[in-house]
Amino acid sequence: MDEDIERILFHTATIQARIDEIAARITEDYRDKELTVVAVLTGALMFTADLLRRIPLPLKVDFISVASYHGATETSGEVKFDQLSLPDIEGRHVLVVDDILDSGLTLDAITRRFYNECRPLSVGICVLLSKRKVRSKQIAAEYVGFEIEDEFVVGYGLDYQERYRNLPFVGVLKQSLI
Ligand code: IMP
Ligand code: MG
Repeated sequence: MDEDIERILFHTATIQARIDEIAARITEDYRDKELTVVAVLTGALMFTADLLRRIPLPLKVDFISVASYHGATETSGEVKFDQLSLPDIEGRHVLVVDDILDSGLTLDAITRRFYNECRPLSVGICVLLSKRKVRSKQIAAEYVGFEIEDEFVVGYGLDYQERYRNLPFVGVLKQSLI
């Protein structure tokens, strides 16, 4: 698997150190608030697991499953929700955790559905990575691990055609494989 990687962007230790900082900020910001962390499957799996154990608040955890890529490296433009019911977040402060902010379509769709259908008190966004680009949706994340250039990355939860999620680092996939 490692030989498919062009170059490593963030090693395990770098990621963990940055999550320490983000978790500390989240812990301060949501102290005394009823917090529900909603992880976006499957990409946010590792990030959420590492983040959560560093936030010593009485929070709740839920998941949402959406798909927009359908195996390509560009968004299809359509966000499909996989579950029939949305998380029970009425009256709660919600922090949506995702792997990466790219076009912004996914997080825009999730945020809007939550506000329109679930009556949360607030919806914040936390992403491990954010691509530096002009987005089709104007959406900003309150917590960002790292800003990256607009290139396709894998590892630490992020996939290409469902592979590479288990790499312990984030790297750029060799162009010849895409
Ligand atoms: P957006 O809706 O375009 O912001 O895309 C969000 C989703 O696309 C993320 O949750 C990822 O699953 C996927 N994605 C976007 N960029 C990458 C990438 O560089 N590598 C792997 N997955 C990506
Ligand atoms: Mg994803």
